[in-house]
Amino acid sequence: MMADNTISPNLTPEHGLDQYLLTRFIGRPSYYFKSITSTMEEAKQLAKTGVSEGTVVYADEQTLGRGRQGRAWLSPQGSIAISIVLRPSIHLLPQLIMIASVAIVRTLKAVAGIEADIKWPNDVLVKGKKVCGILIENELRGTEINFSVIGIGLNVNFNVLSYPEIIELATSISHEVGHDVCKTGVISSVLLDIERLYVNAQAGIHPYKEWETHMETLGKRIRINVGGVVKEGVAENVTPNGNLMLRHVDGTLSEISVGDVTVLKE
Ligand code: BTN
Repeated sequence: MMADNTISPNLTPEHGLDQYLLTRFIGRPSYYFKSITSTMEEAKQLAKTGVSEGTVVYADEQTLGRGRQGRAWLSPQGSIAISIVLRPSIHLLPQLIMIASVAIVRTLKAVAGIEADIKWPNDVLVKGKKVCGILIENELRGTEINFSVIGIGLNVNFNVLSYPEIIELATSISHEVGHDVCKTGVISSVLLDIERLYVNAQAGIHPYKEWETHMETLGKRIRINVGGVVKEGVAENVTPNGNLMLRHVDGTLSEISVGDVTVLKE
């Protein structure tokens, strides 16, 4: 794992990643943008041209960042937007969500000593506030995956106090530790953790247990919006294919694969 102090704090992403990466293929190559509409769009265009697995697009700022369920994603200076092109076999698809969120949890611990949790399915929270959002988009070719793009929006050196509209909901690494951290170190660590977890998954080592261990949603009373249908109950557990098991007040159990969770006050 890359420690924060192995890289000069003055290094910023425009210096490139190559010489700081400890990965074999993720981030090789990487494309940096100071500002871009969305790293997802750029990565998907590149993926369609046949770029190799592991190609990364990253940016300091996005003007049209997008989140899950068609929402906008705020990506001002100080945050990092990363999109990673992968070409997994289809059976690995449910594991990508786990790989991405577990990698962020590992990185936050390694580079900043921060203990983070996962809110189902893949928001990463620190003390209940969101520090990272993850979006995965796939293109199929027949019954196979042509490519998947993992999009990661991480609040690094981001002054949450400047955004009153999100202060109750969001935090950043710098806000938690009280000083700016090296963005290049954070990106390098995220890419290394993703590569390790992905290579393990290909070898049959499932990220499920680690993902479940960090799942803060479990045991809580929640409301979940599944495509406009609202359900309530207790989040009982998560399955190895990434689904949430919801126990309703009448005792029945639903298995949910997508949705937006709100934790209800006890
Ligand atoms: C969410 O929590 O709704 C997911 C947010 C994902 C944001 C990332 S930032 C990098 C990539 N580019 C985008 O436009 N979105 C993802």
